[in-house]
Amino acid sequence: MQILKTVQEVRQFRATCSGNVGFVPTMGALHAGHAQLLKSSVSQNDHTIVSIFVNPTQFLAGEDLDRYPRTPEADIKICELCGVDAIFMPDANEIYSQIEPKILAPKELSSTLEGATRPGHFDGVCTVLTKFFNIINPTNAYFGKKDAQQLLIVQHMVKSLFMPINIVPVDIVRSSDGLALSSRNSYLNDDELAQALKLSRSLMKASNLIKANKLNSLEIKDAMSSCLEPLKVDYIAIVDKSLKPIDSIELGNTIILIAVYVSNTRLIDNLWV
Ligand code: PAJ
Repeated sequence: MQILKTVQEVRQFRATCSGNVGFVPTMGALHAGHAQLLKSSVSQNDHTIVSIFVNPTQFLAGEDLDRYPRTPEADIKICELCGVDAIFMPDANEIYSQIEPKILAPKELSSTLEGATRPGHFDGVCTVLTKFFNIINPTNAYFGKKDAQQLLIVQHMVKSLFMPINIVPVDIVRSSDGLALSSRNSYLNDDELAQALKLSRSLMKASNLIKANKLNSLEIKDAMSSCLEPLKVDYIAIVDKSLKPIDSIELGNTIILIAVYVSNTRLIDNLWV
């Protein structure tokens, strides 16, 4: 497995790849959720490149850029075990210069939910991914459904900018007690981890209601709110795949998304219905 630091090294590596190239963009602090993306890419492509880059432009002032977990040695081991061919781990000044074009996520998809609380976040995501897609030129790129809004925005960007890349969604990986794996779970102590289980339980409650043919969005949201008490809820949203709120569940075209604070840590989770 090669560890590449510069754009030039990546381009040289890419030139040696024949067949399909899978790309998995990450910010590191890799866990079993990321590993699922890596394994999917390795099994579906001739070569897999992973990026590990804590992208400064997607963090707002005052967010956790400086304390975001960084575990490069463990990350390298996980990539190696999963059969990755190359890791791109650039410094920020390899990716960004003083003068930068502005790449904006479409407002219709980026001004709600995560984007409402984190304005500009998805512009940073689209900017760094456009750069990585141009550097790596992958056949397939892998994204977790865990970040549902990010996935939908990236799918839209690739389509509308005619980028010749296939975006592959990967199911959410959870711990045995239901908690969606996240690099930010490392901020939580044992008590907070127990509180964080309320997120997946509230989605499980929604799932059970839907199975019992209770499809009214308000009713489902009320039941979810009760499950989440006493946590501070940022949003509970029931939307279609264009992120428009819907009054009633449409099977196959509905995502239920939540963002909740556990102490100072903001966690997200969702259910694709
Ligand atoms: P990061 O949070 O490191 O996530 C990298 C990828 O792993 C994303 O596609 C995310 O959805 C996926 N992922 C995280 N937890 C997961 C889980 N429990 N199950 C399945 N997939 C999971 O998302 C980012 O980084 C950044 O915004 C990035 C796309 C790299 C751009 O900087």
